[in-house]
Amino acid sequence: MQAPSEIQRSTEIAHTLLPELEKRRSKRAFSDTTMPEETIRSLFEAARWAPSSMNSQPWVYVYATKNQSALYNTLLNALNDSNKVWAQHAPVLVASLARKNHLSNGAVNGSARYDVGAANALLSVQATHAGLVVHQMGGYNKQVLIETLNIPESLEPVVVLAIGYPGKPESLNDNLKARETAPRERFTQEFFVHTKTF
Ligand SMILES: Cc1cc2nc3c(=O)[nH]c(=O)nc-3n(C[C@H](O)[C@H](O)[C@H](O)COP(=O)(O)O)c2cc1C
Repeated sequence: MQAPSEIQRSTEIAHTLLPELEKRRSKRAFSDTTMPEETIRSLFEAARWAPSSMNSQPWVYVYATKNQSALYNTLLNALNDSNKVWAQHAPVLVASLARKNHLSNGAVNGSARYDVGAANALLSVQATHAGLVVHQMGGYNKQVLIETLNIPESLEPVVVLAIGYPGKPESLNDNLKARETAPRERFTQEFFVHTKTF
């Protein structure tokens, strides 16, 4: 859905940003360079240190490298075709899941998905620092993922992430290549930062 055209958007970085935030981008072209295990682990370490409601740490990850072809294909097969077409070249695919209830008291954790999102955000920043690309995807078949990964009732899928080193935009089809190289655009702060009541 397109936002109304009167909303101001800009491609400009308007205020000081960490270089990793400036550089982070959900690219789709991946090189076939494999990721060392230690690099992969450092991404999950970034997620590990994310803040979470009651320090509940509701994030759970299932990842596969291309070498683990059975598990890799299980993750890949759950994706929508529009994502499969480029994500199949990522050296690592990750399912991020949320534990629905607090381990401490069994109560429903209303912040579980929020906290997994925060963990994924930190993971993405750490990845950018390491020269990697992280592309999060909500475009997957949830039921297929649950059934093929045998995900227990206590967990729910959040997003699947494609991770790897950036590749050449020319490796993508014309439509994706255009999106890959277009400047990123955002609403300006006036649209979403308020200093008065509604
Ligand atoms: C929850 C979530 C779901 C997303 N799902 C998809 C997806 O299924 N396919 C896709 O190509 N990109 C997906 N994206 C990436 C967004 O399209 C992307 O973050 C957005 O266009 C902003 O671009 P940027 O990340 O490069 O700044 C998703 C991002 C998030 C956070």
